[in-house]
Amino acid sequence: MSDPKPTVYHADPHTRAKHQILEAYLARWLPILDRSTANMNRPGQRLLYFDGFAGAGEYEGQVPGSPQVPIDVVESHAHEFKCPVEVRLVEKRTDRVTRLRDILKQKKAKLLKRDAITICEPVEGDCEEEAMKLISECQARAIAWARVLLLGPVRVFVVFDGARSRDSRA
Ligand SMILES: C[S@@+](CC[C@H](N)C(=O)[O-])C[C@H]1O[C@@H](n2cnc3c(N)ncnc32)[C@H](O)[C@@H]1O
Repeated sequence: MSDPKPTVYHADPHTRAKHQILEAYLARWLPILDRSTANMNRPGQRLLYFDGFAGAGEYEGQVPGSPQVPIDVVESHAHEFKCPVEVRLVEKRTDRVTRLRDILKQKKAKLLKRDAITICEPVEGDCEEEAMKLISECQARAIAWARVLLLGPVRVFVVFDGARSRDSRA
């Protein structure tokens, strides 16, 4: 199905509400995941955050898009993260990936907690294909990645320790 919307468009109230829920969820859960992962005491451990339908990273009027939510949560949280949160983003439209790259570049330049956040280059591609590649990568590197959350509008994948995976419809 084609998407006639421009690169950046108006954020509907339900989109803003979704971001508020995501923010509240991450603010509560990221420190919990960080503590439990840090307790595993594995070298190079990190929390991996995946947004497979990333969009352009912002809406009209510079309203932040979902890719900015985990970054802002870590940046503003009182919790001191021991495991860096690695943000991986996938978007299928070239124009939106280009905009997203610009936004992330600006965001990276202003980061206060550089040790707590790793922002990867966004990938232009299909969410499911990239998610499958990532799961294979995690399974191959189970020691390095202790928790993986893959969020999308249709599915939530949760992979623990890169060994067991669950695919539940949201
Ligand atoms: C509602 S928009 C962006 C939502 C964004 N997560 C946010 O809340 O700010 C959904 C995005 O998913 C992208 N998209 C749709 N199908 C996709 C797919 N199979 N793989 C990757 N991106 C996809 C669209 O191009 C669109 O930019």
